Amino acid sequence: MEDANTRIDTTVAHPARRYNYWLGGKDNFAADRESGDAIAGALPAIRTSAIENRRFLRRAVIHLSRKLGISQFLDIGTGIPSAGNTYEVARAITPDARVVYVDNDPLVLEYSQELVRGSAGAVAYLEADLRDPQRILNDATLRATLDPGRPVGLMLLAVLHFVGDAEHPYRIVKDLVSALPAGSCLVISHATADFMSPETAAAVDEAGTRSGVPSRLRSRAEVARFFEGMSLLPPGVVPTTQWRAAAEPQPRPTPAEAAMYAAAALVR
Ligand SMILES: C[S@@+](CC[C@H](N)C(=O)[O-])C[C@H]1O[C@@H](n2cnc3c(N)ncnc32)[C@H](O)[C@@H]1O
Repeated sequence: MEDANTRIDTTVAHPARRYNYWLGGKDNFAADRESGDAIAGALPAIRTSAIENRRFLRRAVIHLSRKLGISQFLDIGTGIPSAGNTYEVARAITPDARVVYVDNDPLVLEYSQELVRGSAGAVAYLEADLRDPQRILNDATLRATLDPGRPVGLMLLAVLHFVGDAEHPYRIVKDLVSALPAGSCLVISHATADFMSPETAAAVDEAGTRSGVPSRLRSRAEVARFFEGMSLLPPGVVPTTQWRAAAEPQPRPTPAEAAMYAAAALVR
């Protein structure tokens, strides 16, 4: 039988492991570090961008838990679990919080097992691809873990920029959101070139494509389009560093350093 180890190709860069490298983790390989360094060569603030994305994740989960009473999360494009993952943050506020993690990197599955085992059924992990939302929504483990009658926090953080325009990113998000009850909340963070010079944007694009991890940076309007038909929560679509960040250490990194937008919206 094929197991995760036989499917983990460490010779090509992968977003989860490259992100782990930027965050200072140890779960990455030479190809990930090369790709990470290539992006950092074009965008020296990339590590700040990654750290600020994690800070945004934390603030968003706290906000959904405390202010909206959301206690179950579907976190797609989870990344290699690290301190401050969605379950850890949610559980600190809501002890019976439930989380389904989804990622398409078999290495993430490996690292998630411990978290799943220690959660007594409150955390499930499924290896699946965001580009196949029906497979995610119909998964038996997901259905056994999340209560379909109660609001869900749908977390799509730093993952939609890996879905190209030809792969129907807006339809994917719509399909996922349509399956959620009213009162659910869609949370997105997304890489953008809005604060880069055209030369920097081209260099980032080239470095990603050359190292095998192409991404589609989207403008503010393109990110806002993911929330069509929903009620955006204040402050709307803003750089990750500015989303409900009054309590964070000041001064905040600049939008150019953030290089990502963040927003959350209620499902009506
Ligand atoms: C940059 S990391 C973000 C991790 C986490 N969401 C965060 O914001 O801290 C992107 C994650 O998305 C995953 N990913 C990329 N494309 C995906 C896809 N099509 N389906 C599922 N996961 C995907 C990668 O494996 C990686 O773990």
